[in-house]
Amino acid sequence: MSNDEPEIRSDLWSEWILSRRHAEDDAYNRTVRAAIESYADRVIDGAQLVAGMTLADIGSGDGLVAFRAIDRIGPSLGVILTDISAPLLRHARTLAAQRNVLDQCVFLECAAGQLGNIADASVDAVTTRAVLAYVADKCAALREFHRILKPGGRLSIAEPLFRDEAIAACALKKVVDARTPQSQDRFMPLLYRWKAAQYPDTEQKIAQSPIANYSERDLLNLVSAAGYVDIHMEFHVDVLPAASLSWEAFIGSSPHPLAPSLKVILAEQFLPEEQQLFEQVMRPTVESGRFVTTDRIVYINARKAQAANSKQSGH
Ligand SMILES: C[S@@+](CC[C@H](N)C(=O)[O-])C[C@H]1O[C@@H](n2cnc3c(N)ncnc32)[C@H](O)[C@@H]1O
Repeated sequence: MSNDEPEIRSDLWSEWILSRRHAEDDAYNRTVRAAIESYADRVIDGAQLVAGMTLADIGSGDGLVAFRAIDRIGPSLGVILTDISAPLLRHARTLAAQRNVLDQCVFLECAAGQLGNIADASVDAVTTRAVLAYVADKCAALREFHRILKPGGRLSIAEPLFRDEAIAACALKKVVDARTPQSQDRFMPLLYRWKAAQYPDTEQKIAQSPIANYSERDLLNLVSAAGYVDIHMEFHVDVLPAASLSWEAFIGSSPHPLAPSLKVILAEQFLPEEQQLFEQVMRPTVESGRFVTTDRIVYINARKAQAANSKQSGH
């Protein structure tokens, strides 16, 4: 950035991570943090880091994976934090200074598929958590991770799967489209409007959506096609009551950075009487702890082949 350009203070990525993910609700933030810290720890396990290594964390956000890796390995770990969000990189840099680990960190503003400032075969491990979901060309990104890894270096990723939410939105659309004018059910169209604002709601839109157009097996196949070996995948599904979720946190938060909060959807797309009906039905479910969320996360770890057998890869 040149000195004349105004500094971007926030963007949709920083706004989500620092505010909309938990609707600025402390109790809900603690719940969200506990969940994502456990996902991050699993990603770090998969990277098999040891002292003296260099890790590249792609789409580093507020430094969740990077700082936990440093906490675990200590002062000899070097971490390259990359992100497309300048505000998040600045935020992570501030946190690194507060943690006294600035000298272990390098911050790079770049897209996952264009890590041009990182030399070929220069890092021991690549991690990425909840980033490929937002990358249209996942294959190019995985190849770029492969390029920067040293022979034998490890890839460890965790990605959310939103495909089922999108399929559910499609199903709701079909139900709503099939309604007759005599239909009494006033709630179903509202439920559909909410879901369609956050997820693609037709098969065509799913096919074009980076967040919904892949399954866990597609990701596995992409990792394999990018040339990695020793690939291990785990698909975790957790169906849990959304504990400690107030109504304000429920409507003020959103499930991914590209989704508007329910509060915004209600304000922009619902008439006052529709807002009232929606709240009448949903609020008791949320406040009684009966609202259930399903988290679907795919974990993949793999290795870049040693030079001698690297010709076996890439098929
Ligand atoms: C859901 S957040 C996850 C952040 C972090 N990895 C974590 O575990 O908390 C998605 C992150 O990916 C970044 N991102 C989105 N698209 C990207 C791209 N094409 N290349 C690199 N980073 C990207 C966003 O700026 C954001 O920091």
